[in-house]
Amino acid sequence: MCGIVALIGSREAAPQLLEGLRHLEYRGYDSAGIATVALAAGATGGGQLHCLKAEGKLINLTARYEALGAPGQCGIGHTRWATHGKPEERNAHPHLDGSGRLAVVQNGIIENHRSLREELQAEGVTFLSDTDTEVIPHLIARRLGLLQAADQATDAALLLRAVQDVLPLLQGAYALAVVWAEVPSGLVVARKQAPLLIGLGEGEFLCASDTPALAGFTRTILPMEDGEVALLTPLGIELYDAQGARVQRSPSLLSGTEHVADKRSFRHFMLKEIHEQPETAALWVARHLPEDGPLPSPEGLSLVALPLDEEVYENVERIQILACGTSRHAAQVGAHLLEQLAGIPTSVYYASEFRYSPPPLVPHMLTIGVTQSGETADTLAALAMEQERRQLMADPAFAPKLLGITNRPESSLGRLVPHLLDIGAGIEVGVAATKTFLGQLLAFYGLAVAFAERRGHGSGGPDPQRLRALVAELRGLPALLQQLVESHDQRCADLAHLFAETQDVIFLGRGINYPIAMEGALKLKEISYIHAEGYPAGEMKHGPIALLDARVPVVSIAVPGTVFEKVLSNAQEAKARDAQLIGVAPACPDTEQLFDLLLPLPEVDELLSPLLTVIPMQLLSYHIAAHRGLDVDQPRNLAKSVTVE
Ligand code: G6P
Repeated sequence: MCGIVALIGSREAAPQLLEGLRHLEYRGYDSAGIATVALAAGATGGGQLHCLKAEGKLINLTARYEALGAPGQCGIGHTRWATHGKPEERNAHPHLDGSGRLAVVQNGIIENHRSLREELQAEGVTFLSDTDTEVIPHLIARRLGLLQAADQATDAALLLRAVQDVLPLLQGAYALAVVWAEVPSGLVVARKQAPLLIGLGEGEFLCASDTPALAGFTRTILPMEDGEVALLTPLGIELYDAQGARVQRSPSLLSGTEHVADKRSFRHFMLKEIHEQPETAALWVARHLPEDGPLPSPEGLSLVALPLDEEVYENVERIQILACGTSRHAAQVGAHLLEQLAGIPTSVYYASEFRYSPPPLVPHMLTIGVTQSGETADTLAALAMEQERRQLMADPAFAPKLLGITNRPESSLGRLVPHLLDIGAGIEVGVAATKTFLGQLLAFYGLAVAFAERRGHGSGGPDPQRLRALVAELRGLPALLQQLVESHDQRCADLAHLFAETQDVIFLGRGINYPIAMEGALKLKEISYIHAEGYPAGEMKHGPIALLDARVPVVSIAVPGTVFEKVLSNAQEAKARDAQLIGVAPACPDTEQLFDLLLPLPEVDELLSPLLTVIPMQLLSYHIAAHRGLDVDQPRNLAKSVTVE
């Protein structure tokens, strides 16, 4: 987590650093800080370090900058999501060495920080924070002292050398940036398993954890690879690999980041992003569902056009999906589709569990990593681990086959996996994922149809007529979503006050809508801080029903199909315990009679229903949180991109 920026050029660095941090605030907002280096008046060599920090959101740091200033054309910045040490100003980055002339910002976790801290303390170093990061400036300062004592010239190359010497001492994952008052015209950045990109401007370079911070600055970027270190000066970039060898690599062009952060007339980004879903669906339909083609046949696969090599589909006997949070719920819907439509046994794992207890290897496995940010540390590590253990197998049936589903093709995921599905939902700013979830669902619909077509009817795949009907319904999705978002926005706003005192909510769903019940509960927890559980409706009677009384509302997803009657019966059981029942269901005599409140849905094929049932979940959570006056876009303790374990 956390976002870092670093700038060197010929203009004042602080305003651009703050602007960069503004676009990284989604990575954490517990505190923020910058350090700049200015040439000291009349000085010949070294300069002066100016460091500003503030607890809480970036706005507090900006106010401090406006009052105090931070001169210099070279600087670093940080926005924090607390891991080691409380979210207090003393734990805010940048962290300084004992002389106060060297500053470091870091995103990641230094796992051996305790032993390093003890070693430094034994040498007389005093620590001012509880962070893991603070060991780094002290280690670099110690190394600089030794190099200087050995008569090395005090210049940017010396700073580079000291950082390169210190990095092997650090265990864990990190992206970091270092400035030193002795060299006002150079800064050093490095990364290991945490993202870092360098943007090339005109006579200036901006380095950042993620592309939104670079988008308004330049379109020319150089993503750093794992283990690389770079020295940035106004004259250029020197890039080195982990062994210290110079690396030459051409920059690439940033795409799709034009429409950065603009709330339009909406009160929150989350609401804007909920309203953007019909457009997300329309773009997806236009890109991937070609006009009505002939009936699918082995010679003319035609229903869905995904930009994937045919190799992805070949010889796949099983699928495993690795993901976290909301992405995992999309994966669960995906697994249902891959099994029920394409007949491929599919398992979903929490990436954080998979990486330490992977299942035994089986042949002909497709592994899918789902992460909207493409930077979630657990998902990346789980995929890398799977790749490595399969590469060790001599039998080609066990060879790794990795596919990523993401909203950020330029992310670390994009560089890790050979096959990628870009959901193309556009930048999502609200920490609670909404339109990217819909985009992930759509990716799975496309994938399941594509697999089903290739397997063919009779060998586990569905009847071609059924597939064709599903795809025809998918074409109508944008219009249905438009109606649904518009009608439920006001409806959910009107209901929000009923939840003013609510402390617990149960969400029920079955079959393909069970993951949507989980997603509804997660959304509510994330932004309204109300305890919520998503449960398979049929399991209620095995425990959770004990929680129910008149104070615990139950949101029940009931769509016509295989489990409609069953879900209605389960809802009835909740009603018998006095729970207030909210139905996400089509309006019909049964549902109107059963539910106390109904959030009505149009009727669609049950398999497509998650694309609709999720909308009332999102809007209900949004309006409950907004009614409570909470910070919907930046909920407490959360970050959009979780780049630590
Ligand atoms: C964080 C976010 C969640 C998100 C999860 C996975 O916890 O707060 O909204 O679902 O990370 O993120 P990813 O980028 O991998 O989809």
